[in-house]
Amino acid sequence: MNIHFLTLFPEMYTGVLGSSILARAKEKEIVDYNLINFRDYSGNKHNKVDDYPYGGGAGMVLKPEPIFNAMDALELSDDARVILLCPQGAPFNQKKAEELSKEQEIVFICGHYEGYDERIRTLVTDEISIGDYVLTGGEVASMAMTDAIVRLIPGVLSREESHIEDSFSTGMLEHPHYTRPREFRGMKVPEVLLNGNHKDIDAWRLEESLKRTKERRPDLLE
Ligand code: ADE
Repeated sequence: MNIHFLTLFPEMYTGVLGSSILARAKEKEIVDYNLINFRDYSGNKHNKVDDYPYGGGAGMVLKPEPIFNAMDALELSDDARVILLCPQGAPFNQKKAEELSKEQEIVFICGHYEGYDERIRTLVTDEISIGDYVLTGGEVASMAMTDAIVRLIPGVLSREESHIEDSFSTGMLEHPHYTRPREFRGMKVPEVLLNGNHKDIDAWRLEESLKRTKERRPDLLE
């Protein structure tokens, strides 16, 4: 999978794409990350990428030229997914992550302004928000999405890191986990997990999963 990030702050990505599972996915050549500073494509000698809104009002608007020029230079395949990050987009969730993990090419357009010139939207296949709050820009949102997407690509996670039983993949929140020691500061591991009866263990986990989902996220059960 090729993932392109159109951003004014490519340095923000260094730690996230260069660490842990996202870095390993690149080393394994399962994904490649391409950071593009769209200021380089402004098309004007002052490298200006924003301007005042027609009609007046507060805030600046991202100009169309830098984004159109950067996109032209990318020479994307016809079926590339082009994602505009904004609070007005469709909510991102595990189902969307699963869908996007099957793509060959994804572009994230990360703005840092009051808004995008509306013509930029003609380049886009999806508008996505990562939650009902306003970030200073799309970068953190694109990194959160990349993390959720890349770990789902076959070959990225090892068997021990498997995502099959993740919260949300099952439609519910995950059950509680325990590891050694058996007793810690007076807190004991539930007996059922110690007796090796896998039918009982599965039943307990399902019940705990349901209980947790009912308490914390009843909306998931509707
Ligand atoms: N840009 C600013 N806020 C955002 C959000 N909540 N999701 C995605 N992109 C954004």
